[in-house]
Amino acid sequence: MTVMTKPSKKQSLPVTDTPALAPVGLARPKLMSVADAKAMDVASMASEFVDHVNPGQMHFMKLLGFHKIKVERAEGMHYIDQNGRRILDFFGGFGSLALGHNHPRILEARKTFQDEKRHEIAIAFLSQYATALAHNIAACSPGDLDMVFFGSSGSEAMEAAVKLAERAAGPDRPKVVYAVNSFHGKTKGVLAITDGALYRGEFQLAGNTVRVPFADIDAIENAFRADPAIGSIVLETVQGGGGIIQAPAEYWQKLRALCDEYGVIWVADEVQCGYGRTGRFYAFEHYGVVPDITALAKSLGGGKTAMAAMIARRDVYMKAYGTPKTAMIHAQATFGGMGESCVTAIEALNVLYDEGLIDNTAATGAYLIERLEALKAKYPKMIKDVRGRGLMVGLEFQDFSETMPAVIRPMLTMLDDKLKGSLSGFVGSLLLRDYGVLVAFTEYNRNVIRLEPPLICQREHVDQFIDAFEGVLGRGVIRIVKDFIASQVR
Ligand SMILES: Cc1ncc(COP(=O)(O)O)c(C=O)c1O
Repeated sequence: MTVMTKPSKKQSLPVTDTPALAPVGLARPKLMSVADAKAMDVASMASEFVDHVNPGQMHFMKLLGFHKIKVERAEGMHYIDQNGRRILDFFGGFGSLALGHNHPRILEARKTFQDEKRHEIAIAFLSQYATALAHNIAACSPGDLDMVFFGSSGSEAMEAAVKLAERAAGPDRPKVVYAVNSFHGKTKGVLAITDGALYRGEFQLAGNTVRVPFADIDAIENAFRADPAIGSIVLETVQGGGGIIQAPAEYWQKLRALCDEYGVIWVADEVQCGYGRTGRFYAFEHYGVVPDITALAKSLGGGKTAMAAMIARRDVYMKAYGTPKTAMIHAQATFGGMGESCVTAIEALNVLYDEGLIDNTAATGAYLIERLEALKAKYPKMIKDVRGRGLMVGLEFQDFSETMPAVIRPMLTMLDDKLKGSLSGFVGSLLLRDYGVLVAFTEYNRNVIRLEPPLICQREHVDQFIDAFEGVLGRGVIRIVKDFIASQVR
């Protein structure tokens, strides 16, 4: 038999299999060590990224100036780069860094776990860590949201959520309602309810979906009434990728009532807006309603590990997987509830409450929005809207695609179509270059800057961000674009 060894980079020669226990002659691949990785400079990082990760993505990293930065350390609200520059993190890993970078209590909990040589994989035995974490999550969750499934990404938690909803709804009601501009992940199942043309591309998606506008309760009622095969509805409580879009309290209350009336299972995706981000543990708690199923990820891992959870009402869970015969249909995957990840998440939840971070989020978020509103009043030709809640804030710029001054139009030919009328990319890249401030963008609306700083954010960080932001806005549109273009040719 002939086998292929892992080719040593450029050559790939078939190697004749040698008998077991005699691996003599197998060439060791050219591996980088951890020390090599640590010592890489930005040029070699970029070249390995292009060679092995995602060549096309380098285009966007260059536009934003991300490719020039090597992060050497990260602490609290900051990244520290190769030149010792502190970068204020208002991106926050799209909401994954509630506790900031490398919170000391998280590091300590992980170190103790390692020093004591605790076990990781608990597929055979019960895990004290996974069960304690499930207990904690249930304790943080209102109503009878008591049953917890662990995964390692938001997409995995949402896959679990739609599968549970489908089983609980029963075989005659397989249809799922989802919203325009939704984002629920990129794995194949939830792609069918993620409303991004770019992500969906030409893939063959799972069928049985019904698309409705977000925050339009009549559309939902009409859909439920028209189609008895609808068994579940999946909605982000605050749309993140859609541009930080909220719906009013009445919408959620009516939704709960409609779901009860028609027996439809409501899945609230709280992967981004949950975990205290809006000033309550779950964003739906602002509205006094409880969904049937929800999902957390991102900050659940304390900014240090990949941890996600699907949380369900006990009766819904029992209906789908409550007997020995059905229990293993969707039981945890290999890495669901890894020991150190669970310990990290347990400690993170304790820190969240011990440090009063949810209250801090409500107060600091209100201050951030107030200061942004003042900037909007000062620069109405540039800022169109400020919206959000807590530390999940969207800032929408006016659309310049038609009105961009003629003098700078020719310079914009080098840019993507999407970026041409959008100030967000220009402002974001200058904030990083000139002020050491990192912000994020939204998937579907390129005119929106997304602000999701860690929940440890204080007023002084907001002030620093606002000063930087005003420093860029004060230049005016023409200079902003010129400075941006100059940053691309240097
Ligand atoms: C609302 C929402 N759901 C699901 C996901 C998917 O999470 P992940 O990227 O961890 O798979 C995301 C990711 O951004 C999200 O924002």
